[in-house]
Amino acid sequence: MSEIEAFIAKLPKVELHLHIEGTFEPELMLEIAERNGLPAPFPSVEAAHRAYRFDDLQSFLDLYYRGMNVLLKAEDFRDLALAYFARAHADNVRHAELFFDPQAHTDRGVALDSVFEGLCSAMEQAATDYGITSCLIPNFLRHLDESSAQSAFDACLDHRDAITGSGLDSGERGNPPSKFARVFERVRAEGFHIVAHAGEEGPASYVTEALDILGAERIDHGVRAMDDDALIERLAAQETVLTVCPQSNVRLKVVAEMADHPLKRMAERGLKVTINSDDPSYFGAYIGDNMIWCQQALALTREDLVAMTQNAITGSFVDQLRKKQMGDELADCSQV
Ligand code: ADE
Ligand code: ZN
Repeated sequence: MSEIEAFIAKLPKVELHLHIEGTFEPELMLEIAERNGLPAPFPSVEAAHRAYRFDDLQSFLDLYYRGMNVLLKAEDFRDLALAYFARAHADNVRHAELFFDPQAHTDRGVALDSVFEGLCSAMEQAATDYGITSCLIPNFLRHLDESSAQSAFDACLDHRDAITGSGLDSGERGNPPSKFARVFERVRAEGFHIVAHAGEEGPASYVTEALDILGAERIDHGVRAMDDDALIERLAAQETVLTVCPQSNVRLKVVAEMADHPLKRMAERGLKVTINSDDPSYFGAYIGDNMIWCQQALALTREDLVAMTQNAITGSFVDQLRKKQMGDELADCSQV
């Protein structure tokens, strides 16, 4: 392991853009399919990996929704999240904000109670076993209509103490944030945090809509903001945190290769970028590998990596005390 790899390994990490269903490793998928008496989504682990070649966001989403079909019971969601936390602990993740897609489960007849029970139980276990703090952010599926998002939000309000905010994900093209103006008005009125995927495949104008119409506090991806100078200046001035997912962008052909990724240019333009894994099982890289691959391709310095980690701490939805604890840990690590 090189010196910089060792530095990245011990960096205390904060992950702000992670779909828990996107951490579903094929081994566990096949195991859960069998115990639930369901057909396996893929004939073998190798076949799953072979299938994970994507042309764009939609070709990935098709397999992502197929894989999660085997999750039925609370214990399935618990096992899914426990596997993620074990992997996150190996990467020295200290805090993770987990996205999940309520509609992708309730539309298949899975009780939202089971989803919350399983995920919350794993989150408590991760806090006890690893000292990892975490929170839950349900995302509305933007390819569905707003009334479906409204029903999903109603159902989530029955678990209001378990959620920290709401987000927007799934197929971006043709589904602008403005389609969800009314549901996010309710999310704001209920006092939750707001994030939104914007500017992944969709245009920079979707980032502007997410800020102005939804009231997004963070932008998930946001790489296409680089097409709009005025937007870059605005995001920099208001210090909006962008949860960038470099390996996801390569695998979904948002960028041709890691060497072309705008992450470093975004930081140089004053944007508060962070490095995240998005759907690590499907893209073959958890947060640590995302950092290593970015460092190598873009010649990131230790200072760059520390600054990006500090952006993640600042942009997280934890209280000031936890932010200070993590900031202190980061300062200790960066002095060595
Ligand atoms: N759902 C899971 N991963 C996603 C991504 N990268 N973009 C949009 N929706 C998603
Ligand atoms: Zn995402």
